[in-house]
Amino acid sequence: MTKVVAIALMVGLLAGWGVFAPAAPAAEPSESAPTDGEEEDFEGLPEAPGREAVYFNCTACHSIRQVTQQRMSREEWDKLLDWMVATNGMHPMRPWARTRVLNYLTTHYGAEEEDWAGLPPGDGRDVVFYTCQACHSLAIVKQQGLNRVWWDETLTWMVEEQDMPELDDEDRALVLDYLVANFGPGSRRR
Ligand code: HEC
Ligand code: HEC
Repeated sequence: MTKVVAIALMVGLLAGWGVFAPAAPAAEPSESAPTDGEEEDFEGLPEAPGREAVYFNCTACHSIRQVTQQRMSREEWDKLLDWMVATNGMHPMRPWARTRVLNYLTTHYGAEEEDWAGLPPGDGRDVVFYTCQACHSLAIVKQQGLNRVWWDETLTWMVEEQDMPELDDEDRALVLDYLVANFGPGSRRR
């Protein structure tokens, strides 16, 4: 097993259960991490990265409706998570898990349109926006004009050398399509 695979597995396991196990009596964890094929409807939460983390973290104490009836900006969701931890006894999440949860909440239960830092519309924009901006300005992304192979290399480099959390296959394909379509070899420098 390569180091990268081992780390990915470890992260997967943590993503699956480590984060919410202590506070989630209602959702008894099984020994194995959940798989994509798992039959679970998550009470209608839209399918996207972070759904499981939101569902299991938040339903440990109250109905998911408490969450889904809200519309808040990212900053407000961020404050709310602080409040859940500080006052309501929520187990703190690891930073990257928290980022995922925030991404999910902001994408699906956000207050108003984000301006996406000037990223053109398209599938994958939200994933690029939240994933890449966790560490650096999107200007660094927008100024590139790379073909698919080089974007692929760049993502691998981000994961292996810069500690970017690994995207699942579906998200990675989405991100690659988006980057090549908008910041490909033919794109004007922005
Ligand atoms: C350990 C228990 C616990 C966990 C875990 C928890 N909450 Fe809460 N949450 C509470 C309690 C208690 C309240 C009610 C607080 C009050 O009304 O004073 C609440 C209320 C809320 C409200 C309603 C706020 C309002 O103004 O009415 C929202 C939204 C919310 N939680 C979101 C979340 C989200 C999102 C998560 C998961 C990331 C989460 N909660 C996880 C305990 C928890
Ligand atoms: C965990 C942190 C992290 C995340 C997340 C991250 N990056 Fe980076 N990225 C870096 C760092 C650090 C550098 C600077 C590396 C250097 O110059 O040595 C960088 C540099 C870059 C560069 C510049 C390469 C160059 O030739 O100068 C590009 C392009 C890039 N990142 C794309 C992305 C994209 C696209 C994403 C999202 C899919 C992303 N990054 C997410 C940490 C991150």
